[in-house]
Amino acid sequence: MGTVTVGAVRERAPGERRVALVPEAVTLLRRAGIDVLIEAGAGSGAWFTDAEYTEAGATVVSPEELYARADAVLCVGPPDPEGAEALRTGQTLIGLLEPLRHPALVDELTGRGVRTVSLDLLPRTLSRAQSMDALTSQANVAGYKAAILAADSYDRFYPMLTTAAGTMRPAQVLVLGAGVAGLQAIATARRLGAVVSAYDVRPASRGEVESLGARFLDIQTAQAPEPGAEQTGYARELTEQEQQAQRAALDEHIARSDIVVTTAQVPGRKPPLLVSAEVVGRMKPGSVVVDLAASEFGGNVEGTEADKTTVLDNGVTLIGAGRLPSAMATAASTAYARNLVAVLRHLVPDGELVLDPADEITAALMGGTAQTGGASS
Ligand code: NAI
Repeated sequence: MGTVTVGAVRERAPGERRVALVPEAVTLLRRAGIDVLIEAGAGSGAWFTDAEYTEAGATVVSPEELYARADAVLCVGPPDPEGAEALRTGQTLIGLLEPLRHPALVDELTGRGVRTVSLDLLPRTLSRAQSMDALTSQANVAGYKAAILAADSYDRFYPMLTTAAGTMRPAQVLVLGAGVAGLQAIATARRLGAVVSAYDVRPASRGEVESLGARFLDIQTAQAPEPGAEQTGYARELTEQEQQAQRAALDEHIARSDIVVTTAQVPGRKPPLLVSAEVVGRMKPGSVVVDLAASEFGGNVEGTEADKTTVLDNGVTLIGAGRLPSAMATAASTAYARNLVAVLRHLVPDGELVLDPADEITAALMGGTAQTGGASS
């Protein structure tokens, strides 16, 4: 029985501060009999030092040594061209590889025998895979941070305050999209004392919104879900006509809100446009809009740009916040590393890396890659 060696690389995407493994995860992997390499400086963006990794039982190495020795290379986001090139035939790359956004990368890697395990392909509804669900762990961080970021940019209080100087009214927060990030944004805004309402196309989210003490907006726009939507739990893309009806119904609520946080996504599609420039123009000066969906693929709010904050002429602050997990790199990395440990425990059941295409979880994680018959190790 051989020993499996995994290696966590330093992330190279601009502004990315997360790291795939944190020291506590190294300890867990060592306990599971897995050897761990860490690229020097990989944890510094998330405030983990090389010394802490060494103390936990990892070997701190150069990228050349890591790529030479690791059976599995661990990352957060997709590798840059140099990192992709450094991967060898027979090696396995494990991370949030976003194959739906970057199909060419995964195709190129699998084409030359590098196996890819993409945490973003994990089926969300498999309860035994919940501990591996990195989309959830990262969305949780993003939702929390979005509410904090909005509070920080808002020049009034969130809670209703009664002071000697009189009573301050509470902030009215509207959250659009009540998936994992949206629910965490609602919970955080509620804890800070805001009055929160929310909306999602999935009617099933109503109960979750209300259980957090927020009001679910009654907007009848979505038609019956596509067959199979219940199984995946995901929203489907609305038709253009449905989107227009939805926007018209939401506009009044948006214009009245002090803070709007948008989190709506449809996997593999452009995020739906929920907030037009026209309705942003009708918001009160001092209002804040945080768009979690903002990316190079567009966003939920017309005019937001990823990683850019703009104060409009009418005094509304637009925050394009597509990369919030990286802005809370320590919490996000710690949660992500726990997901990776769960994935590795699954893939290395008995001292060997086994990518069994017959296993439901493994097959899903490798989705879209060329499947060979039988287990490979
Ligand atoms: P996501 O990031 O894909 O989208 C965020 C939210 O936007 C979703 O709730 C979606 O319904 C909503 N949305 C999409 N289009 C919209 C529109 N036009 N207007 C308003 N809202 C819109 O979703 P996330 O957070 O990844 O969750 C997806 C699903 O997976 C949810 O049903 C969630 O409850 C489920 N889930 C289940 C888990 C489990 O069973 N263990 C774990 C995590 C998520």
